[in-house]
Amino acid sequence: MKTVLITGANKGIGFETAKQLAQLNHFVYLGSRDKQHGLEAVKKLNEQGITNIETIMIDVTDINSVRQAKQELENKIDALDILINNAGIAGDLPQDFVTGNIENLRRIFDTNFFGTVQTTQEFLPLLRKSAEASIINVSSEVGSIALRTEAGRNTNRDKYNAYGASKTALNAFTVMLANELHDTGICVNSVTPGYTATDLNQFQGAKAVEDGAVPIVKLATQSHPGTTAKFFKDGGEVSW
Ligand SMILES: NC(=O)c1ccc[n+]([C@@H]2O[C@H](COP(=O)([O-])OP(=O)(O)OC[C@H]3O[C@@H](n4cnc5c(N)ncnc54)[C@H](OP(=O)(O)O)[C@@H]3O)[C@@H](O)[C@H]2O)c1
Repeated sequence: MKTVLITGANKGIGFETAKQLAQLNHFVYLGSRDKQHGLEAVKKLNEQGITNIETIMIDVTDINSVRQAKQELENKIDALDILINNAGIAGDLPQDFVTGNIENLRRIFDTNFFGTVQTTQEFLPLLRKSAEASIINVSSEVGSIALRTEAGRNTNRDKYNAYGASKTALNAFTVMLANELHDTGICVNSVTPGYTATDLNQFQGAKAVEDGAVPIVKLATQSHPGTTAKFFKDGGEVSW
């Protein structure tokens, strides 16, 4: 049984990931920036017979909230095995770089990049106490420079340029942190759920959340010591 913290898990892919990991008998701390939404999410799972789960209030953009969450977890557990940095926002449209609003860009980066970095920094001491710790950054293929530069590629999703850039930065964080932590045995990887129907895309995504959570759950549960600095998707790897 592993102890897992998932940010932004009151709904969407994070919620489904929490559910699937709890069903596999791991103990899950379901992160929610809104206390009530977190309690409601846990209640929903309790009603399905899932009890190895608790909510924890965490707004990744607010350092005081992150520190409070860390303090709360430190009082409950000796070590954290898996941190899943799932909280994310898509931001407003349009968000092209020619005319896009800079405040929108900052807001997206504040959650998807800076929020993830500060959450990870705060929880690292608890992760270091685990025998097999793993940090999982929930990224997106729209952040892949390799896919963006593929000839002829111009999908509807490519209009999410600010969001895509924030995920590119997140992927850089994955690789650079993995290298920094190389000698500690802590694995750091990115994973994409694939285009999944959630609030983030007004439920336009092609996959159901049950399927979107699968690559995240796989990465969290497969024992693969030494697998670090990789970018996974369902059934394989994504080029950076
Ligand atoms: N859906 C897709 O097609 C897709 C594809 C690739 C990657 N992803 C990634 O998957 C992750 C989950 O997205 P989703 O599709 O499940 O979207 P979602 O349903 O909108 O869920 C996003 C979650 O993040 C939380 N969140 C937002 N800002 C936060 C903050 N400052 N602090 C803490 N939590 C915050 C939201 O909380 P509230 O309920 O309070 O807003 C919500 O719980 C994101 O990182 C997203 O970029 C999604």
